[in-house]
Order: sequence, then C-alpha cells, then structure tokens
Amino acid sequence: MVKRAGGALLLSIVIDPRSPRSVSSQLHGALRELILSGSFAVGERLPASRTLARELSLSRTTVIEAFDRLTAEGLIESRVGAGAFVSRTLDTERPRAPPREAAAAVPMATPQLSRTMTQAVSRFGDRSRLPTEARAFTTALPAFEAFPVAQWARLSARHWRTPRHQVMGYGEPGGQAALRQAIALHLRANRGISCDAQQIFIVGGAQHAFHLVGSMLLNPGDKVWFENPGAIGARNSLIAAGADLVPVPVDEHGLRVAEGLRLAPTFRLAFVTPSHQQPLGMVMSLQRRFELLQAAAQAGAWIIEDDYDGEFSFGGPPLPTLKSVDATGLVIHVGTFSKSLFPSLRLGYLLAPPALVQPLDAIMSRLMHGVPTHTQAVVADFIGEGHFAAHIRRMRRLYAERHEALCSAAAAQLGEALEVERSSSGLHTVGWLRAGHDEAAVVSAAAQRQVTVSPIARYAIAPRAAGDRQGLVLGFGGVTAGEIERGVGVLAQVLGRRRPS
Ligand SMILES: Cc1ncc(COP(=O)(O)O)c(C=O)c1O
Repeated sequence: MVKRAGGALLLSIVIDPRSPRSVSSQLHGALRELILSGSFAVGERLPASRTLARELSLSRTTVIEAFDRLTAEGLIESRVGAGAFVSRTLDTERPRAPPREAAAAVPMATPQLSRTMTQAVSRFGDRSRLPTEARAFTTALPAFEAFPVAQWARLSARHWRTPRHQVMGYGEPGGQAALRQAIALHLRANRGISCDAQQIFIVGGAQHAFHLVGSMLLNPGDKVWFENPGAIGARNSLIAAGADLVPVPVDEHGLRVAEGLRLAPTFRLAFVTPSHQQPLGMVMSLQRRFELLQAAAQAGAWIIEDDYDGEFSFGGPPLPTLKSVDATGLVIHVGTFSKSLFPSLRLGYLLAPPALVQPLDAIMSRLMHGVPTHTQAVVADFIGEGHFAAHIRRMRRLYAERHEALCSAAAAQLGEALEVERSSSGLHTVGWLRAGHDEAAVVSAAAQRQVTVSPIARYAIAPRAAGDRQGLVLGFGGVTAGEIERGVGVLAQVLGRRRPS
C-alpha cells in the first residue's frame, strides 16, 4: 500500500481499458492533473514506479513511460536512487492565479467588449444556435434527404486527386476563379443579373457578407433602414458594425419606403429581402423597388439585397432581383448556398457594384485569406456539371408540395385559429393567430409537444403597435409531409381545435 495521502490520491486515478487513449497516456494525464492541481505538493516524492504499477495493476513499463513524459515536460525530476519528485520550478516559475477576491478587481478578468458588440449580442436577448435537424416547423433548413450526397462525394474525392498545391495552398482571397465564374453564369441565367466574375466575392455564408459590408461601409451611429420585422442575423451583424437601425415597417408590397424617408431621410444603408421578405414572406413590388432605388440614390446610400432563398419560387415566374433592375450601382446583392445546397458549407457570395470591387479586393487580401478552397472547388464543379440546376429544379417541386401539404392541412384542421399564408416561394411562411391567442404562449405549448414555431415578435426590432396581428413563422422546406401532418395536429390541440389524443 502507498503511504500517506498518495494512497488516497491514487484511488482517483481511473484507467479505462476501452478508451482509445493508451494506458500510459491515461496515467500520464491523471498524474499531470494531480501535480498541476497541487494535490502532489512541490518537492513531494511520487510513489515508486514499482508500487504504482502494483497498486493500479499496470505493467511497470507503462508507468515508466508515463514518468518519462512527465520528466520531459519538466513536471517531475528523478534523482538516482531516491525516486521521482514534483519539480521545484512549479513553485518558482509558475504564474499564480490571483486570490478569488483579487480576481474581481483585475480589469481583464471580465472582458470589456466594444459597445457595439455588446449591443449586438445582448440588445435582443438570447439567441440559441441555429437548427441542425428539422422537425415541424423548423425554419432555415433545406430538405437534407433529397440532396445528392453520392454525386457530392464523387466530386469531393476527385478534387483530392488534383495537384497538392491546388488542394492545400492558400487560395485566391476573393474566391476561386472557377466558382466566381460559375456563380456569375448562374445569376445571369436564373436571377436576371448580368455581371462580371470579378464582381463576385466568395464569403463564409451570407452572414459573413453582412458583417463585411457593415464593417466596410458604416461608421458608428450611421442610420440603416431595416425591415421591421426583419432578418435576425443581419440585424445583429449590422449593429455590431455600429449601425443605428431605423425600423421601417413592411406591408403587402414590402418595405414602406415613404415611411423610411419620414423616419430617416439621410441614411447610409438599407437592408431588404425583396424576393421573400424575412419573416413575413411577401415579394417586394416593382414599384417599391424603384422607390427604394430612388431614395438610396438621393441619400447616397447603399442597399443590401439579401436573396437568401430567391431560387425557390413555385407560384409562377419569380420577379427579377432588385440587382437586375438597378441602374444606380448602389445594390450589393448577397446570396448563400445554405438553402440551395446545405448550411454546414458556410458558403455564400457577395456581388459588389463596380465602385466596391477595388476596396473589397484590398479588404479580402489584407484582412482575410478566403474561405476553404476545397468547398469552393466542389461547389464550382457541382454547378459546372449541371447538378446544381437539376437539384434546384427538384427542390422547387418538393418545396411546392410541402407548402401545399402545410396549407391544406392547416385549412382543414386549424381554420381561422391560424390562417396560414400561401407563399409563392421559399422554405417558410407565416400563420396569423386569431385575436385572443398569444404568440409566446402558443410557441411554448407547441415546444412541449416537440413542435417548433417562431413568434413574429422575435424578428421585431421595435415594439409593435397594439393592433398588430400576432403570428408564427412556420418552416416547411426541411420538414417531411408526415411531420407536417403531425405538426398541424399538435397546433390544432394547442389552439383548442382538437382534444389531445
Ligand atoms: C434572412 C436570411 N438571410 C441569410 C441567411 C443565410 O445565412 P448564411 O448564408 O450565413 O447561412 C438566412 C438563414 O437562415 C436568413 O434567414
């Protein structure tokens, strides 16, 4: 038996024979922990390797291996004939943690975030992470089960067979040429936009583009017109960049430009989702688009057009993008592969107006070193070989079916308790609650039955007027028909249209 406290300490060493870590590495880790936590005092003698081996039922070679690593790290010192001792340098050299009371007084102990970043992370309360897996009625996720994973894997494997410098070296800061070219062609064919590949900058998702544009164009306190209710991630990024958000209301034609002009005629930037307003789902009318362009031209303001799910129109031909009718050169068009492919790619693009190409080139090459080249190369091939266009066509049909399944189940089972809007595009829609139902209460009752619905209030950037209708945002793109049926059934129970089964 090992003498003194060492005996008890050794009981705390647990070796797991099923662990992927070797036994000697587990022993080394456990002894290291005991030394660094002070359980073995500086200068104290460690149990002899022979004793340790016996007590822990290990081979002596394993114990000696662990001791050798601790010696190499300078944590123990061996003296011939006397044994191994906890190194004295731990006492003389190791920075001490301040005493608990003193720690509170050290300014670095609580990090001081910048004012804008503090606002961005706290002004609108907590936000949990975005979803990984869909259930009724998760938003923001496409239909994973319909993605051609085998084709993707083939292109990915092929990429790894290209020359190593191409696969492993730093890529072009603004994005891989083949991908920029493929996106330019795609925008021309599908979004009515004619542009040069040099105007396309590849970024780590639309969110990265919002952050980039905000920090590139805004000074603290600049007025930014923002749709109210509006997109959560973009609003947070722009606040972090110093924006003073001006909540501009929306109606069935999209952003109310006249109201924006009344609230803040001098603005620096406007953020809009013209193809499918986030979260309410309407398409911005052509008239409003022209009004917005006119207002921006007069104020000398930039416009971010977030075309996050514009590819998925299923109620007839989509309206052209704002960028496609822009003669002012003020529209920054942002696209993402999060919906058209999948969000874990973290891949998007920013189409810069000519005046911003040179500044963006400088920013991308000096401040960033691009986004993963492997992902870019695979996406470029996926588009180039026609899989992207085919996938979008299939997904349009699938999302149209899921949209229909939601609307008809809601009409049959929810009636006026929740009027689900028919959408002409995208992966989500809204349902309006009958007066008397409270958004937050419905959200929490549905969550208890494993159904996710988002209150419209979550997207609001200013308190809503007393008469504003309450409603829920309902995702359907990533949700199977069976799960849509279950979700509507749960909402029927929650809204008192059906007895719980
Ligand atoms: C309005 C809006 N824009 C953009 C995105 C996509 O962001 P990202 O490309 O960073 O995934 C989302 C994702 O849900 C969104 O809701």
